[in-house]
Amino acid sequence: MAHYFENDDTLKSNIHESVAIINKQKFVFYTDNGVFSKKGLDFGTRTLLETIDTNQIHGKVLDFGCGYGPIGIYIAHESDAEVHMIDVNRRSLELARKNVNTNHVNVQIYESNLYENVDGKFDYIISNPPIRVGKKVLYQILEQAKNYLKQNGQLWIVIHKDQGAKTTIEFLSQFYSVELKNKNKGFYIICATNN
Ligand SMILES: C[S@@+](CC[C@H](N)C(=O)[O-])C[C@H]1O[C@@H](n2cnc3c(N)ncnc32)[C@H](O)[C@@H]1O
Repeated sequence: MAHYFENDDTLKSNIHESVAIINKQKFVFYTDNGVFSKKGLDFGTRTLLETIDTNQIHGKVLDFGCGYGPIGIYIAHESDAEVHMIDVNRRSLELARKNVNTNHVNVQIYESNLYENVDGKFDYIISNPPIRVGKKVLYQILEQAKNYLKQNGQLWIVIHKDQGAKTTIEFLSQFYSVELKNKNKGFYIICATNN
């Protein structure tokens, strides 16, 4: 079976509607085979979103690896930020577009492998990053985020302790000021500031 980050047009579509209540706000998310967390909102993503204080979020936000869109859609709904959402997986992008319309938010969505189509600098990069791509690509995503963050911009990620949360903190500490913002059922919410 193809990984969720690969494009596999032969994979049979089976669109599923899910409802998620995040910080008392209701969202409808369509998911499908071949996208991450096709059953609905991932617990790690939920923990990340419930940790971020959206009153503090302004300026430009990049949702790296948007999947079917929960991060970018939530941030666009709850803040005044200009939100950009990217993914390498076309089925995810199609669903994210559908979910953006369903939840009535205004964002920019585009295909990008890593940062190849990302332009300019952001105040926040927020991600439940792809783990299955392997450590080398994951670390590339995390290190290169610095090139797309403004001074004092923040990279927020969620990563499970069994997926190397502690070594990821050590890795990030070479390039950023790192804070562990929350821990829930093994999911670590990490904020890395570009200062
Ligand atoms: C763990 S999933 C998170 C999806 C979504 N943000 C969520 O929280 O449900 C990671 C996402 O990163 C995407 N991805 C993997 N490799 C990528 C790459 N090289 N460039 C951009 N996105 C990538 C995958 O397609 C996947 O949608």
